Amino acid sequence: MVDRSGWGRDRAVPTGSPHSPPAWFTEQANVTDSSVYETFETDWPACWERAADLLSWDQPYDTVLNDDEPPFYEWFTGGKLNAAYNCVDRHLESGRKNHVAIRWEGKHGERQTYTYRDLYVEVNEFAAALRGLGVEEDDVVTIYLPMIPELPIAMLACARIGAPHSVVFAGLSADALATRMDAADSEYLVTCDGYYRRGDAFNQKTKVDNARLALEADIETVVVDRLGDDLPHVLGENEHDYHDLRDQHAGETVDPVARDAEDMLFLMYTSGTTGEPKGVVHTTGGYLSHVAWTSHAVLDIEPEDTYWCAADIGWITGHSYIVYGPLALGTTTVMYEGTPDYPDRDRLWEIVDRNAVDIFYTAPTAIRAFMKWGTEYPERHDLSSLRLLGTVGEPISPRPWRWYHEHIGGGECPVVDTWWQTETGAVVISTLPGVDEMKPGAAGPGLPGIEATVVDDTGTPVEPGETGYLVLEQPWPGMARTLYDGNERYREEYWTRFSDPDEDVWRYASGDAATVDDDGYITVLGRIDDVINVSGRRLSTMEIESAVTDVTGVAEAAVVGRSSETGNTEIYAYVSTEGGYDPGTSIREAIIDSIDATIGPIAKPSEVVFTPELPKTRSGKIMRRLLEDIANGAELGDTSALRNPEIVGEIQAERGD
Ligand code: WTA
Repeated sequence: MVDRSGWGRDRAVPTGSPHSPPAWFTEQANVTDSSVYETFETDWPACWERAADLLSWDQPYDTVLNDDEPPFYEWFTGGKLNAAYNCVDRHLESGRKNHVAIRWEGKHGERQTYTYRDLYVEVNEFAAALRGLGVEEDDVVTIYLPMIPELPIAMLACARIGAPHSVVFAGLSADALATRMDAADSEYLVTCDGYYRRGDAFNQKTKVDNARLALEADIETVVVDRLGDDLPHVLGENEHDYHDLRDQHAGETVDPVARDAEDMLFLMYTSGTTGEPKGVVHTTGGYLSHVAWTSHAVLDIEPEDTYWCAADIGWITGHSYIVYGPLALGTTTVMYEGTPDYPDRDRLWEIVDRNAVDIFYTAPTAIRAFMKWGTEYPERHDLSSLRLLGTVGEPISPRPWRWYHEHIGGGECPVVDTWWQTETGAVVISTLPGVDEMKPGAAGPGLPGIEATVVDDTGTPVEPGETGYLVLEQPWPGMARTLYDGNERYREEYWTRFSDPDEDVWRYASGDAATVDDDGYITVLGRIDDVINVSGRRLSTMEIESAVTDVTGVAEAAVVGRSSETGNTEIYAYVSTEGGYDPGTSIREAIIDSIDATIGPIAKPSEVVFTPELPKTRSGKIMRRLLEDIANGAELGDTSALRNPEIVGEIQAERGD
């Protein structure tokens, strides 16, 4: 048995009894033949051609996988393609120009529909506008927009001209924006004046102004006027109104640039184990093939479907499964602005009902909230259009799984629990809904062509039921190719711990803990590194800690995750202040403000506990595990290794234990 100290805190849940997919589903599913697993295994890596075959290539590739220099793999080398062409133009050419590409549901009941033809016009005009501003192939364009149609349009416009985009989640702070732009050497920004949050107008432009002040380069900035008279704004130097700019290029078209399969499609910053966010690099050919294939095989998307992934495009889930995957397949993708409980807690079900949504994909944190709100909200609506449900972002335990299956899926729709990461680009562990049994609580086996295993400290596979590290044994097309800040960090973060270069063994270390059943189904338990998963969003404890220690008067800080009663993870901060400093309310406020300013409100702690000192080992290392146990009210292990054991009682007293 593996030493469990240092594992993620997410509880190991026993999986529930299996469900077979109903016959009506398997009869119509895109992938129904269980021999697909064997085909991929015997024909690996050539099997991945079937993913690439879902795309249109300007020039065919000559090698499926180039593994000459692991871990720097290359997929579909020699091939050329354009992602925007694949997501837009080719659907016009196949006679589907009037098919709806995007249905947008605005915060205040506004609705907009873009056919593939409309999307083609918008993407071309904005691509021409970007060119007009001087954007060239390979220039990184940062996009800092909320869930409005201009966001996917801007992404596709970048893809059309071969300019990688770097989308920064709109809720992140000015500092976070500036850090990411600086790290990516990005001199172009697409943003907006503001957006609505629970009915209030929220100013985004001020954050942009602050970020620009912090950057040395002149940033050409395009501003979408989202709020009109609700937030009048003045454009300064190098600032352009999105719609004026687009109108200046009305009717223009731009030829899609044929990109090498391995050329960068986008960059996505995510939290890592250090304070510096990691710029994950995704390429054009492998990424797009993998998201298209999993949209087809796992999400079972067909062109005639109305498909809805209720995530934010500012994170990887939205990139892969609101924008690139569904649009590559030519389906109708729904995007919505706002929150599930505004104007009422039936917002999502009203949207499903009105649009006759076939496939719905969300996160466990949302499902737990729906469960808490009760069945009366989904019961107000007709959800019978649904065919398949999906979840992503966190472990889902059997109870919410069953609730989702029963109250949203009417006990009829298969549920896919899809495990993947920003770095994997697309789903790598899940059941195939038309083939496999579902086991509530377990994500499933590795997809065909993916070998996912659970290993101990020495890299030996653990016995079924035992906890270990989740690793991937083979490369896959959607994998990140490197980190923008360097190959070394990429190798170090993911390919060192369980690889053995002398033996030519290369294993991708996911950073998650998991167990595996004897039938190969994997139950993911959560992160084992210094990353906390809050409502499906990755936050680095070190990044939060450095925001806390920036505050005058703070000596040291340690941030841990705590499971709330509802099963959500909350942020818990322990802070020691400089000698004699009175930790009054002002310092507490200053801590929250600093986190807000450097990361954003999503990293706000649920609790800040002041302590004279943090518990430390004799070598001076903060005992995070102990702090995590205290936060979770768990039984404390042996504290004798502490240099200052008395502090534990003091912290507990402060917490009121
Ligand atoms: C977690 C989101 C359990 C996991 C796509 C992973 C999951 C991290 C699941 C990646 C799942 C994602 N079951 N845990 N089905 N899906 N995770 O990069 O800890 O934002 O490492 O990508 O989310 O988060 P990221």
